[in-house]
Amino acid sequence: MQFSVENAKPDQLQSACLVAGVFAGGKLTAAAQTIDKASHGYLSKLIKGGALEGRSGQTLLLFQVPGIAAERLLLVGLGMEKDFKLPTYRKAMHQTVRALNDNGVKQATSTLSLLAVRDTDAYQRARHAVEVAEEANYRFDRCKGKKDNHKPTLLKLALLVASREELRAAERGLRDGIAIAAGVSLAKDLGNLPPNICTPSYLANEARKFGKGGKLKVTVLEEAQMEKLGMGALLAVSRGSRQPAKLIIMEYRGGAKNAKPQVLVGKGITFDSGGISIKPSAAMDEMKFDMCGAACVFGALKAVMQLGLKINLVGVVPSSENLPDGNAVKPADIVKTMSGQTVEILNTDAEGRLILCDALTYAQRFKPAAIVDMATLTGACVIALGNVVSGLFGNDDSLVKELWNAGEKSADRAWQLPLYDDYQDGLKSNFADFANVAGREGGAITAACYLSRFTKDMRWAHLDIAGTAWKNGAEKGATGRPVPLLVQYLLECT
Ligand code: BES
Ligand code: MN
Ligand code: ZN
Repeated sequence: MQFSVENAKPDQLQSACLVAGVFAGGKLTAAAQTIDKASHGYLSKLIKGGALEGRSGQTLLLFQVPGIAAERLLLVGLGMEKDFKLPTYRKAMHQTVRALNDNGVKQATSTLSLLAVRDTDAYQRARHAVEVAEEANYRFDRCKGKKDNHKPTLLKLALLVASREELRAAERGLRDGIAIAAGVSLAKDLGNLPPNICTPSYLANEARKFGKGGKLKVTVLEEAQMEKLGMGALLAVSRGSRQPAKLIIMEYRGGAKNAKPQVLVGKGITFDSGGISIKPSAAMDEMKFDMCGAACVFGALKAVMQLGLKINLVGVVPSSENLPDGNAVKPADIVKTMSGQTVEILNTDAEGRLILCDALTYAQRFKPAAIVDMATLTGACVIALGNVVSGLFGNDDSLVKELWNAGEKSADRAWQLPLYDDYQDGLKSNFADFANVAGREGGAITAACYLSRFTKDMRWAHLDIAGTAWKNGAEKGATGRPVPLLVQYLLECT
């Protein structure tokens, strides 16, 4: 999709379709008022007649509106004016793009970007408009025989701004939004691929391709090398699989040579059957999404490369399948992690923390300024927080705060859960240094507690994205979250 920003009068504008907002109760936005005047009260007459109440998400497409240069006018309901914030702005943009696609519109100009949205500026309104438009236009039809005939028609979207200064800010917003959307789309594509295609080797090859542009140094560690490094936990998970595990390392050096890098670690289980502690078969297909943490590392790197951010960033992706087999790891097996600590694997379905712990230990060699891991780690996190926010944990308050703020600004929110020592007791083992699971209660927290034992000397945070990385039901698919949060965080590291 193509985006542009314009500083022009809505009524005089040449466009295939102009978009204007109406608040609840039929209150016209300033742009809608301008159009109303130009059309000698056509809009107010329609609204008085009950054509549109201004409920959030409502749309009405009009042809041949008198007095304006645009061919069509799409009115969009915005809900209560006093509640108009970033999430409602995004919803209105989403409905706009949907309605434009439903009506076969190819080009449009939106006045919604002119609206005062609480705590935002022209930069953010432009950026979010781009992100939401790309979100609404996203399709995954790579695996369909008959190509999807619901291809989006909207190819060009112009956004209006109020002044010259806003023009410059909005142009930056477009640039950042386009990069973030590209990262989100990549994360979605990788997440949506079936597990017979998206294996650890596939991810490794994608990383190698990613490195071809010369902006990334890509290293892939094979199982033999993991063995040498003592990654007993990662290797334990991969034992039941015919697909070899991979540890993928992607280094982006955009900052000063000696500047400590940010490190992102993403869980890359390309299919999680649970292993010998096998899962019930209902909805097991969704465990192809168990590599969405890894996908977000790719997505964040894509956006950062596209923006050429002046930071150093390292992505670390441990990748494996988790399957049952005669050679698979068993409940009660004890393995030695790269950190030297031993773990009793009481449940083979708690495999994410097993691959992550060795990746976190490995990541220490980069002397990170901070290390953030993303993982579809626990069903318990979905119970605790639902599908709205990601679970956020960390051993450094300032880092947690930065990530929380980044979530708010990027509309990709996270909420902190506690890491009090009291929760550590559950991991006690009579036979090894500790176990890989505690009881059912507080499962998202005890999983984070397990990880915390491998990140003692680092500024570390963990995002449990089990509830946010994909949607189920009719709209089943990867969301690309938390790429927006991560890129926001990285933008502010510069
Ligand atoms: N990948 C799952 C977590 C998951 C489950 C995410 C359902 C989204 C929906 C993870 O590997 C897992 O199986 N976790 C177990 C941990 C338990 C054995 C302590 C879980 O959540 O049940
Ligand atoms: Mn599992
Ligand atoms: Zn898993």
